[in-house]
Amino acid sequence: MPEPLRLGVAGLGTVGIGTVKIVQQHAALIQRRTGRPIVITAVSARNRTKNRDADLSCYAWEDDPVALARRDDIDVFVELMGGADGSALDATRAAIATGKDVVTANKAMLALHGQALAEAAEAKGHVIRFEAAVAGGIPVVKALTEGLAGNDIRRVMGVMNGTCNYILTRMESAGLPYAEVFEEARQLGYLEADPNLDVGGIDAGHKLSLLAAIAFGTRVSFDAVRLEGIGRVSIDDIRRAADMGYRIKLLGVAQMTGRGLEQRMTPCLVPADSPLGQLQGGTNMVVIEGDSVGQIVLRGAGAGAGPTASAVMSDVIEIARGSRIPTFGQPATDLVEAVPAGTSAPAPHYLRLELADKPGALAKVATVLGEEGVSIDRMRQYAHADATVAPVLIVTHKTARDAIDHALSRLPATGVLIGEPVAIRIESV
Ligand code: NAP
Ligand code: HSE
Repeated sequence: MPEPLRLGVAGLGTVGIGTVKIVQQHAALIQRRTGRPIVITAVSARNRTKNRDADLSCYAWEDDPVALARRDDIDVFVELMGGADGSALDATRAAIATGKDVVTANKAMLALHGQALAEAAEAKGHVIRFEAAVAGGIPVVKALTEGLAGNDIRRVMGVMNGTCNYILTRMESAGLPYAEVFEEARQLGYLEADPNLDVGGIDAGHKLSLLAAIAFGTRVSFDAVRLEGIGRVSIDDIRRAADMGYRIKLLGVAQMTGRGLEQRMTPCLVPADSPLGQLQGGTNMVVIEGDSVGQIVLRGAGAGAGPTASAVMSDVIEIARGSRIPTFGQPATDLVEAVPAGTSAPAPHYLRLELADKPGALAKVATVLGEEGVSIDRMRQYAHADATVAPVLIVTHKTARDAIDHALSRLPATGVLIGEPVAIRIESV
């Protein structure tokens, strides 16, 4: 009988219990696929007496996840607690120090400490795998590190936060304002304990920074991700964008440019009929472009017990099979420090302005845009009930964001601008 692979599971919440259930329900199937049994030896969570909808009676219990990580009777430490620092980080370090492989779903911890953890693990000949940390059930980490390993990756982009996509698509389908749908999402339990992780783009930014490290062989640089959340996306913008054939998505884009590594997680307009434009509800989508393969589109559940545990188990099975892939697809010490691209590649932009409805107003705006090198591609003025205010939409030709921002900063001085102008990048996808 081959030696079993012994797991210590820290965290018995949504993902932890989902993982326990797969280990229990698919024991025979997994053994056929790996050639050895996978068993759970010990578990840890904060509250031992909580009812967890799974039989944990045959596992040793540790109150302290660090003690679990140090146990001699586990081979793999499965970290499913969450949090960038604190217990998750302490226990992961303890696991590495005591010679365990690590499987984690914790994007926050890896985005901030992934480089140091990977170096420490690899120095001892151990691996850290994190398929579940990015886009839940979508096997995007494996796609990049394995399936597409023969490609020069040109661009990675996607919708990687299901909560934001739920909010944006629900605003459009129900015609509801942001604040109302945000509250709905809170009541449905979709939001993280700190909602800014979702709607501020931080959670998705963590995920993007991990994919960028694999795709471009660079050290994880979450600090260099340009972040903008969805809190300022209005129902007006969603409607106007739809009128012009676009949808608004919280879109992550990572690409290596002549100016350095560009990483951004910001609201963008994408064509409504593109795969990203069609993405509804809490689903995630990652698009990868490689020189040989062309474009790959991966779509699926980005969260939830089953999909996320499915990804956790793919890592466990990879380890059981004897695969030793470095955390970011190449030795961590070989990853290079990325030079951050100071600015984004030029792109068309959507501008929404409210102008005083009087002769010469549009001409003044057009003059400022022209002087800043912003060229107008399309323009539309909407009928309006208020005779004094004219809502105007402009789609520009490809323009650097700096030029747009500079032009917008000059508009108040024209005396025709009412309220705050809105500018959203249009991404070609
Ligand atoms: P969760 O439901 O809140 O569960 C967290 C678990 O960790 C609980 O069982 C909790 O114990 C335990 N825990 C927290 N602090 C602990 C400590 N100091 N010592 C021992 N146990 C501790 O979280 P989750 O949704 O499963 O998420 C887990 C990880 O997966 C996070 O990194 C998250 O970002 C990631 N992830 C989640 C999803 C998803 O769909 N939920 C998707 C992708 C990635 P108690 O139960 O006793 O409180
Ligand atoms: N809050 C995250 C989301 C959970 O909405 O996508 C999965 O990482």
